[in-house]
Amino acid sequence: MGGAISSTMAFSASFQNGLQVASWKILARKLRPLPRLLWTSQRCSASIFKASELQVELCQTQQRKPGSGEPLIFGKQFTDHMLTVEWCSKQGWGAPCIRPFGSLMLHPACSALHYGIEVFEGLKAFRGKDQRVCLFRPWLNMDRMLRSSLRLCLPAFDKLELLECIRRLVEIDEKWVPSGNERKASLYIRPTLIGNESSLGVHPPMKALLYVILSPVGAYFSGDSLTPISLLADPRFVRAWIGGVGDCKQGGNYGPTVFVQQTANQEGCEQVLWLYGPDHLLTEIGTMNIFIFWTYKDGVLELVTPPLDGIILPGVIRQSLLDLARTWGEFRVSERSVSMSELLLALREERVLEIFGSGTACQMCPVHRILYQGEHLHIPTMENGPNLTLRFHKTLCDIQYGDGSHEWMLPV
Ligand SMILES: Cc1ncc(COP(=O)(O)O)c(C=O)c1O
Repeated sequence: MGGAISSTMAFSASFQNGLQVASWKILARKLRPLPRLLWTSQRCSASIFKASELQVELCQTQQRKPGSGEPLIFGKQFTDHMLTVEWCSKQGWGAPCIRPFGSLMLHPACSALHYGIEVFEGLKAFRGKDQRVCLFRPWLNMDRMLRSSLRLCLPAFDKLELLECIRRLVEIDEKWVPSGNERKASLYIRPTLIGNESSLGVHPPMKALLYVILSPVGAYFSGDSLTPISLLADPRFVRAWIGGVGDCKQGGNYGPTVFVQQTANQEGCEQVLWLYGPDHLLTEIGTMNIFIFWTYKDGVLELVTPPLDGIILPGVIRQSLLDLARTWGEFRVSERSVSMSELLLALREERVLEIFGSGTACQMCPVHRILYQGEHLHIPTMENGPNLTLRFHKTLCDIQYGDGSHEWMLPV
């Protein structure tokens, strides 16, 4: 099983690149010492925690693991251990600790509870063909978590050190990673960083707590046939806005959506299609990125998804689909806004082939109906296979449940 990952270069380089890290894996493999010049004041002031200082306290009695036939409901069951790391402004980060899974003790004034000063991530570990466990593109989740944290004035951390701590946690609870035989189940990993300031007042927290919990999860879909969903597109509701924090994975973006999700259900729809602005731009589907596969008005076959302009969460699966499609080179791949009027015209002209959502929880989710301004729009995704949706789904599953050799997989 793997060893520690060098972290220092990646951390400094990411800061210098405005937190846009391009070549994580290359950096991770370079075990060279950090050049003196890269020890910027920013790095020195932001203390980091190190995986080499990890303290491990194993649980005395292990919980019963779900049997192979038992359904795994998303986020209901947790593994035996969790990772915690405490931070305070005076001393910086404490030592990371893997300990038995258990409740947290929080001060009643905790700033995460009062002001939503918290961020989280969602990634998965998969058990591949040869029973080896691997994480899928975890470097992208670490990038996003650091970016979200800094936007919320939560403390910086070294992404590769956190990743190594997560790897160790998954290694310890490895038996909880469900079998990948049917290419359905996986272990969901939920890193969380909360402001733990113990006084009222809206300001950067003086204390924070980073923790990671693990949950075995089943498939959203059975077999290879993806079940299509319907969407409520109601411009009265807005998920995110320019200048806001829609591109961060922070709790405040999610709580207020539950009401809208309920409204969608009352209207007979499964999910929300989030629209934005006077042109009713299509932005996201529930907690998924949106893709449209169509013949664009210029006659070119195109896969399009909205650009990362601040209101879109930069999804890991979104990035993966773009990467795959660009490698295939079989159709145009665009990151461009699409308005409802453009979609309505394309539907009338029968140019739309498939619409689907993408995200870590479900991977791919085809759309067959949109309720917009009182009209039920039929989306012909399923009549078209859905060939592209299924191809993406199969390609991702082949990588995730494969032999772990793909460069997107980090072996545990
Ligand atoms: C708002 C939103 N959009 C998109 C996504 C998909 O992101 P990812 O592919 O990283 O799971 C998520 C899931 O976390 C989300 O919450």
